Formats: sequence, structure tokens, C-alpha cells
Amino acid sequence: MTTDVFQIELRKAERSRIQEVDFNHLPFGKHFSDHMFVADFIDGEWQNQMIVPFENFTLSPALSSLHYGQSIFEGMKAYKNEAGEVLMFRPHANMERMNESARRMCMATIPEEVFMGGLEALLRVDADWVPSTPDSSLYIRPYMFATDASLGVAPSKTYRFCIFTCPVGAYYTNPPKLKVETEYIRSAPGGVGYAKCAGNYAGSLYPTMMAQQQGYDQLIWTDAREHKYIEESGTMNIMFMIDGKLVTPATSDSILKGVTRDTILQIARSWGVTVEERLVSVDEVISGIETGRLTEAFGAGTAVVVSPYSLIGYNGKDHMLPEFAPEDSFAVRVKTYLTDLRTGKIADEFGFVQ
Ligand code: COI
Repeated sequence: MTTDVFQIELRKAERSRIQEVDFNHLPFGKHFSDHMFVADFIDGEWQNQMIVPFENFTLSPALSSLHYGQSIFEGMKAYKNEAGEVLMFRPHANMERMNESARRMCMATIPEEVFMGGLEALLRVDADWVPSTPDSSLYIRPYMFATDASLGVAPSKTYRFCIFTCPVGAYYTNPPKLKVETEYIRSAPGGVGYAKCAGNYAGSLYPTMMAQQQGYDQLIWTDAREHKYIEESGTMNIMFMIDGKLVTPATSDSILKGVTRDTILQIARSWGVTVEERLVSVDEVISGIETGRLTEAFGAGTAVVVSPYSLIGYNGKDHMLPEFAPEDSFAVRVKTYLTDLRTGKIADEFGFVQ
């Protein structure tokens, strides 16, 4: 970690809350580390960069992001190696994507010295919060929201950028059951599906709740025009092993360019696995399960890393994914490799770890 962090003011918490947390039982996003990084965009520049205790903000009831939704976020993780050093995984990729989201939502972009400087300084101050128990990590949540107190529908002139962190364990305990969504959509061509903006997640809640009432855990989102092609699953990208090839929907303006997605594709290619990024139809997946050509279906995202699915429901019929021995599974192999890479157990030939 190299960025010069001298401009950041530090106000330390009077007492750490770390003793209150059971690091062997870490539900996702419930425990927050002692500090957060905050910076404000005012008069066309980022200022007031500070690390302060994790505490409430005082906000105007007219805050434009609360009314019109200029609000974006990222998700990333830090790990510890055996020497106890904190390792970040591809933080620049998240920074670049955050700025892509910012441009789409007409928000200020964040320069590298603010994003990386804030992140590195925060991880130094709260290094003790990075867990080293198996399957755990420090989830990092950078986010930005509009702070003009104004009800005019227009891009805000001011923004707050904040980063806080949470020690987390495994996201799912059992392989989720998925339902192919054929009525609601997550995103549409020309829309904001590729941006990590808050509204995308709000819009997914109702259809997901309906699927959960039918016994599923998450949705497989399909294209807005015909519900014929698969886009994402839940809050992450989706991948399949079909005829021994790694197949995933090609990214577009309605699909998020996942950092975990890209990482897995790079690793697969380096192993000599054939990768296909293309249109993947629901029919191909269902007939692949029925004929045995499709051997695995899994989600890929920062929070879950890799999450194999157990079942796919489509038009009222459930299709069980085949069971496999862990040593025969691409998903299990790539998850283990990724964990070893992130925790510094194996050499990083990709330059992902910082
Ligand atoms: C992530 O994997 O970082 C996500 O986007 C999921 C998050 C919304 C919990």
C-alpha cells in the first residue's frame, strides 16, 4: 500500500468495539469496524478528507439522493496473509467501475488519490478488523451520494464519498435455489444495469420477495425484451459449465461488469479452460441440465465469491443441478484458488493482490 495519505485528518474512536464481535460468527454486513473515511465534493473539488469513528451523519431531509436516487456503491474485500499483512484485491478495478457508475448517474468522479488514499489509510487504522478465520474477510463498502438540499430534478452539485468496512463470513450457508424471472426485469437496454446504483437493488427486492414466497432463494434475471436470455443472478454475475466450457453472458449496458467475474475468466483462461462470453438462452440452460451437458451453475460476486446453485426453477418446473465430487468441480477449484490468491498463499501471476 503506497499512496501518500498525509492530507487525511484522523479523529480516532475513543474506544474500539472490536471486543464485542465474535469473529467465528460473522453475519454479512452487521458488524462495522471502528472507523470510516469521508470526503465531500464541494465547489467542484474533493475536500475535508477525514477518517472518523463510524457514526451517524447529519443530513438534510431535502437531500437530493434520498428523493431522486443519485447514489452508487462498490463492494470489495481485504484479507490477511500468514504474516498478518493486509492484502487488497484489485481495488483499482472497483475504483474504475465506481467512476463508470458515477458518469452514468451524472455524479462527480473520484480521483485515485482520494479513493485509494482513503482506502489505504482506513485499512491501516482498522487493520485489526481484517479477520483471518477461514471463509472470512473484511468487506469494504465505498459509496457516494448526492448531498444538495434541493428538490429540483437536476444533478446535485455536491456529493459525499464514504468508505466503511465490515468483517464478514460466508454469504450463503447452503447452495441457493434459483428461479428464472419471466415477468419482472432488473435492467433494460439503454438503462442503468451496468452501473452499481442503489435503485437497481431496490427494484430487485419485490420480484425476489415473490420468488422467496414460492420457496426459491434468488432470481435469474432475463433480458427485458423477450425473457429469453440470461443476464445475471440475484446481485451477481452467473456462470455455467457446459460441455466442459465456461460459459457466461457477455456484459452489456444491462449487465454489471463484475470484478469477480473478470477475475474468474482470467484464471480459467490461464488454466486452458475454454471461455465463452455470449448470449446464453434459458432454453440452452434447461436443456443442458436435462441432457447432462450442463454440469455446473454458479454465481460470481464480491460478497459470495463463488456460489454453486442447487436448482433452477423455470415456468413452474424445478430442474436439479447435478451433484458432483468437489475435485471435479470448476467452481470449487476456482474458489479455492481465489482464496489462496487473496490470502497470499500462492504466487499472484496476475498482479491482482496489493
Ligand atoms: C457484491 O457482491 O459486492 C454485491 O454487489 C452484493 C452486495 C449488494 C451485497
